[in-house]
Amino acid sequence: MTMGIKNTRHGSTPGFARSVLAVAACGAIALGLAGCGGGDGDNDSAAAVGVNDAALKFDATKYTTINVTIDGTKVPVRWYPEVCYVAKPTEMAATQTSLGQTIAISNTKCGYQSMNIFVPESVASDQKTALYFAVNNGGWMSSYVKASVKDGATFDSSASNVGAALKAGYVYIDVATRSRNVVGADGKYPGKSPSVVVDAKAAVRYLRLNDSLMPGSARRIVVNGTSGGGGLSSILGSSGNSADYNSYLAEAGAAGIDASGKSTLADDVLAINAYCPITDLGNADILYEWMFNVLGTRATVSQNPNPTGSAELMAKFADYQKSLNLKTSAGAALTADNMLDEVKAEVTRSAEIYMASGKTIPNLGEVMTYTSQGQTGQYTNDWLTVDNAAGKVLSLDMAKYLKFVVTQAKLKNAPSFDQSGMAITASSGESSLFGTAAQVYSNFTDYGWTHNDTAGDGTGMDDTRQTWAQFLSASTLVSTQLKLVNPMNYIGSASKTAPYWYVRHGSRDRDTAFVVSVNLARALKADAEVSDLNYRLAWDQPHAGNYDVPEAMAWIAKTLKDADAKGL
Ligand code: DHB
Repeated sequence: MTMGIKNTRHGSTPGFARSVLAVAACGAIALGLAGCGGGDGDNDSAAAVGVNDAALKFDATKYTTINVTIDGTKVPVRWYPEVCYVAKPTEMAATQTSLGQTIAISNTKCGYQSMNIFVPESVASDQKTALYFAVNNGGWMSSYVKASVKDGATFDSSASNVGAALKAGYVYIDVATRSRNVVGADGKYPGKSPSVVVDAKAAVRYLRLNDSLMPGSARRIVVNGTSGGGGLSSILGSSGNSADYNSYLAEAGAAGIDASGKSTLADDVLAINAYCPITDLGNADILYEWMFNVLGTRATVSQNPNPTGSAELMAKFADYQKSLNLKTSAGAALTADNMLDEVKAEVTRSAEIYMASGKTIPNLGEVMTYTSQGQTGQYTNDWLTVDNAAGKVLSLDMAKYLKFVVTQAKLKNAPSFDQSGMAITASSGESSLFGTAAQVYSNFTDYGWTHNDTAGDGTGMDDTRQTWAQFLSASTLVSTQLKLVNPMNYIGSASKTAPYWYVRHGSRDRDTAFVVSVNLARALKADAEVSDLNYRLAWDQPHAGNYDVPEAMAWIAKTLKDADAKGL
């Protein structure tokens, strides 16, 4: 097993942070607490043991061996099925609806708070290999426990991140979480924010607690997620060890929470591999409307069903952007005035990296063929002039580029994220992530709250007769829920940010504004805890993930080497 004091920037912080260090170093089950006295005085008593830790002991014998074929070679894998990572799982209804489909679930007891753990036989006694921690909450939906590795499956490691992770000798873990659509056995909605983050943290804590009993190292957790999962990866990677989640962790029966509600384990992670993160939810509508109206894109393509709302949201962008206090890649203040140039520089960089890899981009006047939202289409390039031989972008027309993006994938109606309760929208945004467990949804932005026109849904000014400001001052529920899912609130704060980040956002993704990932990247860049940020708009990619398996896996391998060299 590999333990030892990890180097966190909490070193100088009294209390909680030092407890984390002391117990992370000596609190694993196999060691017990013998010899763990002394230290800084905060953890000298047995009270520093999580109240649920004994119940959450990993049973290393509970596996079945399955066989998969990776690149033509048979690979035996130990499968630990449906390991429940909390002591107080939420009992769920046996019938659930996800993305319009009704499914019957068999594990009502813990199927949304379990992990399927896959250990390549070759690393069964390796205490150092990485844990590839896959979150599966697409759409910010709950994810019922899933098995990405099945007996008899065949993988091509150049295309499948699952096959590549197993081939590299990492432990592959499918992590289930509650989230916005799940229905409890009591008919309520137990997946409201922050439960999805709490569950992911509880899974991390389970791995930390049982590190000595499990193959691999819980100090080498690499989180992988796409879209909603990219958003979850980002908050998990930025809010490490934050006490903000402790009360929720206690309620879920997570590992490493003592009788007084304090944390006795760390839940920070080593590396994040996130695709198209749907994040900064409380501001995502503002960023979206700015991005697709600042050059008149919505009007140009006649996708502007709510022009007044778009304009109202867009008008909030400058103040919000300023409040983030971010810098451009060149070090100037990143504001509404230079954001378009910043995005343009990222699109240019993406194209040039693509050409440098030996690939060719259709030139001005040539046809771009693409696949988007399951359809293949063609677009005559009217926005980009390149010199493929020199690998250079010669000119890029941002207005025409944005028009291309929303032609190949139609924009969401405004507001795009806090959509529920408005006749104007398709009601498929994220409002159901917020509110009480008894509510189907709650509006979570000023705009959504104020413009909700569905009488009787219990949210919005129409039903409550409260303005957004009055609502926020009367109840901290929604503002707290927003904070706890948003990495922008944690990056650069006292929580622990993962040191390694690989973030991709497709250059023709219309699901969230490019500004969202640009801001995330600039915030990460400014965080002294981040030692490597590998961010890019992925050339010619739509809203998707894991399309660059060899590159991402090479980055993970390099990251693990670097972490080793640094003693992380
Ligand atoms: C996803 C897509 C969205 O457009 C969104 O708002 C949230 C999540 C997804 O694909 O996971």
